[in-house]
Parts: sequence; structure tokens; C-alpha cells
Amino acid sequence: MSILEPDLTPGTAWLAGRTPAQRKRQGQWVTPYWICRRVLDVVAPSLPPRPRILDPACGDGRWLVAAARRVPDAVLFGWDLDPGAIRAARQTLDAAGVDAVLHCGDALAPDALPAVDLVAGNPPYVRPQHLPRDRARDLWARFDVATNKSDLYACFVQRALDRSPRAALVLPEPMLSLSSFAALRRRVLQSGLGGVYQLPKTAFDATVRTIALVCDPEDMRRGGSMHPNGLRAGPTVHVGSRAWSLSGPPPELPGPPLGARVTVHMGVVCGDYPRYVHDGHQHPDDRPTCRGRHVHPWRIDPTELHIRYDPRDMLRRKPYVAPKSAALFDVPHKVVLAGTSGTAIRAAMDTARRFPLDSCYVIHPRGDDDDPYGILGLLLSRSVGDWYAARFTAARVKGVEIAGIPAPTGDWSAIAAAARTGDQGAVDRAVTAAYALTD
Ligand SMILES: C[S@@+](CC[C@H](N)C(=O)[O-])C[C@H]1O[C@@H](n2cnc3c(N)ncnc32)[C@H](O)[C@@H]1O
Repeated sequence: MSILEPDLTPGTAWLAGRTPAQRKRQGQWVTPYWICRRVLDVVAPSLPPRPRILDPACGDGRWLVAAARRVPDAVLFGWDLDPGAIRAARQTLDAAGVDAVLHCGDALAPDALPAVDLVAGNPPYVRPQHLPRDRARDLWARFDVATNKSDLYACFVQRALDRSPRAALVLPEPMLSLSSFAALRRRVLQSGLGGVYQLPKTAFDATVRTIALVCDPEDMRRGGSMHPNGLRAGPTVHVGSRAWSLSGPPPELPGPPLGARVTVHMGVVCGDYPRYVHDGHQHPDDRPTCRGRHVHPWRIDPTELHIRYDPRDMLRRKPYVAPKSAALFDVPHKVVLAGTSGTAIRAAMDTARRFPLDSCYVIHPRGDDDDPYGILGLLLSRSVGDWYAARFTAARVKGVEIAGIPAPTGDWSAIAAAARTGDQGAVDRAVTAAYALTD
């Protein structure tokens, strides 16, 4: 069934009048209309007759139009902090012939928002460091779910669940797994987890992936994905003690932490890139280098990038730099790993004696017995990739995550031999066999 959009031009005009800084501070992005409709399709069957439905951050009112069309007898309420949003919502609703009570105000003020049967919408996403300091302090003191590095949207979820037995909200996917949102996940479980639906990567013009979170006292824990033409049901949400997942419990691997057998170091932190990093080899102290973006699974892009490796000068100029010891880099074989883009490990063997920059890690065996190719094969194997991707979704890789990967005990020479050929299937088989031999 195709979804007929209402006239959304008032919202476009409203956002065109906001500066990028204003939009960022108030998390002002609009939701593709089809998402509003699909989310309401999911929750509508569990609503009582003449339900009261509220969007606490209604922007141009598109969720309210979708609610009126999906649940025609609903009584609708919309709040927004921005008077321009409320004006746009009034125009959108009038043009669509929808009646709603609109209110311009802070949805997180102590007594804000009426009690309703459903809260639906897409709350603002704003990191605490981007809120005015007093505002962040006040919210973080009043909302239990606002812990360390969580986000303004967590306060909206708590407020929604304090005012309504049900909520259907579009949220960033990392809320399923990051420890900063553990308190939020606990709060949702207290009210009941109706389901989690993944939204397409391209749903918003943003790098963060999004989900539709449905809170419902029946606690069905449905999983799936949402598309313009409908829902695709998946396995139920796996609620683990540390994270939730849409693809079952995270795979386990046996073995002690990889850090017992390897060292993991960041690349050169020189503190002044324009000064030390350049194209070409112009001086005897210039060394080939690379950045994280040049590192892919199995290969490092050829580049002319060089670093003038002068640790003494670097240290003299900036106290925080970390040029480290040349012996870490100037070796015929070492594993280099990209430090950006979590969820997938991008590593390759460096045979060009590069001095990689700080967006990379360099990994060496601790003892003389291990072959660096064994480390490379292990990191690029499917078993390790699945283990890692199920746990870490942040954009930056952390050295402690790599050092914490469970590693097979015993001999890795079969893994190293397979990795030398670059045959992914052979590597996967060798790694599976090595784990099976680990107690
Ligand atoms: C992500 S936009 C969503 C707009 C609309 N619901 C949609 O999905 O298209 C978030 C909205 O929250 C509003 N907002 C930000 N802080 C707010 C607050 N404390 N109380 C109410 N609304 C707020 C912004 O003005 C913005 O319109």
C-alpha cells in the first residue's frame, strides 16, 4: 500500500529559517512521513478506543497527521519548544484537516505533558556536551536514565513512559548496546518492550543508524525491520545483560584475551600534521605512513604519504604527543588495524615499514614464537568479526576492545599459513579449528 504524504511545505520553510547551530542544539530533524505511518501501523492495534496520542517534540506535526489518519478517533496533542515548529504544525494540520491541541513549551519541564495512551514521535538527539551547561546539569539531576554519556533523547523516553503506558519512538540504534544507555534499557524493560524495528540505513541523512522502539506493557519483544512498503518480521529481540540485539545472543568464543599474546599500540601521534606529514619522500628522516582510511581488510592502499619522523622535535614542541619507539614501526612485517569504523575489523599486513598515524593501531606478537600472519588471520576471520560486531558499534575502535577478543590457545601456524595466501575460506576454517582445540 502506498502512503499518501500530507503537504509538508510548512515544515520545510520552518527548518530553512533555522541556522545549523540552532538545529543541532535542539535536535531538529524531520522524520520521513512513511516512517510515522509504519510505526503507527505497529502500535495502533493495541490502543483503546478514542486513544489520547501525544508527540512531545512534534516539529511540523507530521506524526499527528499520521496518527489521525491511522487512528481516526484519536485525540491528539503536540508539544514543541520552538514557536516556529508550532506555527508549521498548525499549518500542516489545518491543511490536512486534522484537529490537535498544540502547546509551545519544554516537554521535559517538571509538570509538562498530559497523561495519554500513546507517546509517538522522534525526540531530539543532543549529546550532553552540546547542551547549555546548566540545562545538562538540571536534566542529568532529574532524569535517572541520563547517566554519564547518554543523550537528551533518553530523558524524552523516560518522560514518555512516566506519562503513558505505551510509546513508539524513533531513536539511534546504539541505544541497544552502549553502556551509557543501560539505565534507559532498564527503564524500558520496566514498562515492557513491545519491539524493536530497524530502519533503513538511508532513512535519515545521517551516519547514525536508527530504530523504531515500541514500549508496550504486553512485553512482546518483537523484532524486525521497517520499510516503505511494510514490515519484515525478524526473530524476537534478544535482551542480554549488557546489550539488546536483533540477531540473537552475541556469539561467544573461548580463550584468554588476545592481549595476553599481542601488544596493541596506537600509531604515531605527532601533534602537528601539517608540519610532519606530507606527500613524497623529501628528507632522509621521511618514513612511509598511512591513515586509518587507507587500511582495508587484507590490504593497505598504496600512498605517497610520508611522515618526517623526528621524535625528539615532536616531543619538544608538544607535551602530549606519542611518537613512540621506531622499533614498533620499522619492522618488515606488522599488523596494522584501522582505528575508525567499529563493527568491522579492518586490518592488513604492512610490509612497507610504515609509521602509521594515530587513526591506526599496530599489533605485534609479545613473544618470538607467534607469527604476525597468525594475528592477522585471527582478526580477519569470520568468527572474530562476528564476535566483535555483535559487541561494538561505536565509530572508533578502542585498543582495549581488540586486546579483549578471546583468542585460541595453542599453535596458530595453520592460521598464519592460511592468512599468507589471503584465502578467506581457508582462514575461517583454520580459526574455527583453533578455537575448537581451546579448552
Ligand atoms: C527530531 S525533531 C522531530 C520533529 C518531528 N517530531 C518529526 O519527527 O519530524 C525534534 C523536535 O524536538 C523539538 N524539541 C527540542 N527540545 C525540546 C524540548 N525540550 N521540548 C519540546 N520539544 C523540543 C525540536 O524543536 C524539534 O522540533
